Amino acid sequence: MPARLIKDDIYAVGAIHWNERRFHGHTYVTKRGVTYNSYLILDEKVTLIDTVRKGFERELIDNIQSVIEPSKIDAIIINHIEPDHSGAFPEILKICPKAKIYGTEKARQGLLKYYGVSGDWTAVKSGQNLNIGKRTLDFIDVPMIHWPDSMFTYSAYDKILFSNDGFGQHYATNKIFDDEVDFAVLMDEAQKYYANILWPFNALVSAKLGAISKLNLNIELIAPSHGLVWRKHIAKTMQKYLYWSSHSCKNRVAVVYETMWRSTEKMARKIVDGITSEGVEAVLFDVTKNDRTDIASYMLDAKGWVFGSSTHDGEMLPVIAGFLHFLKGSKAKGRKSFAFGSYGWSGEATKDIEDAISNVTSFDTSLRVVFNPTEEELNQCFEAGKAFALKIKNEEEIL
Ligand code: FEO
Repeated sequence: MPARLIKDDIYAVGAIHWNERRFHGHTYVTKRGVTYNSYLILDEKVTLIDTVRKGFERELIDNIQSVIEPSKIDAIIINHIEPDHSGAFPEILKICPKAKIYGTEKARQGLLKYYGVSGDWTAVKSGQNLNIGKRTLDFIDVPMIHWPDSMFTYSAYDKILFSNDGFGQHYATNKIFDDEVDFAVLMDEAQKYYANILWPFNALVSAKLGAISKLNLNIELIAPSHGLVWRKHIAKTMQKYLYWSSHSCKNRVAVVYETMWRSTEKMARKIVDGITSEGVEAVLFDVTKNDRTDIASYMLDAKGWVFGSSTHDGEMLPVIAGFLHFLKGSKAKGRKSFAFGSYGWSGEATKDIEDAISNVTSFDTSLRVVFNPTEEELNQCFEAGKAFALKIKNEEEIL
């Protein structure tokens, strides 16, 4: 993909990883691929904001070269050192011999540990800036959004916030702006991204959004390091970040289960019938057939979380165990839950479920049946779903 102009003298020069399907190891399924965005600013000091993942150096260098000789780069700003943005840094350093590097002190330490190089580094933090000619770039550190080194860079001249991972989406496309793609797909990817990258840092996101709002920045573009540049829907995405980071929820329920001989699945279906009979939305997820990335995205603002597992060798089943382990890290608040499952002789699974994520939800009494549920037991599942739906409906919005 060639360099693309996003504003006068500012080019997107990053790379597109069209077929990346597993991001962060295997934790994030990226059905629409990934982009590693990097931005080149032509001013008195030619400035590069962020690099790309290792293996995409050639694409980045070719894109820069289509605009200007890379050796003319005077400044490189490192907003974040995770390898999807810094992998190409050592190679870029070699071809930009006069470049001075700007980033947080944590970023410098991290780059040294990763690559053994950090270049001619100036440590910067909130309140400091860099004049590059017509433009003055302001630095805003955003620690733990989502790494200790993370920062944003703001150009008042261009009214652009270079937000690195903030406001990103994993969405490989040849389009550049938010209004050039389907809005529903974009917001679906934005929600998935928030649920799988930023959810554990809700409190920090919320506090930092508040602090940034007090800066009264004039923002016409938000240029993240992944996905589309926000141009038309800036207010909408900001509003969504405020909503997600405040632990707000909708009256909806995720019923997530794993089953051995379909008994637990029969229970799950009846529970969903009971929930929906009260007009509350419920979605049934077999955890072995859905990507946890998608389930987590739905659960991000679902008030009800219901989990089921058969008992096997005195434990809950392994796939749901892995999913709950993943979910525990969300640090979600205010969710309502109950556990269910069939068993043969001991039935530890429901207790295992409760123990696994009692840090992020409160559990009602669990529902267990021996072997195959009878009609009467299926009615109990229906009634349990119905009662749970009433509880969800009657609670005030969780904040
Ligand atoms: Fe896109 Fe935290 O790296």
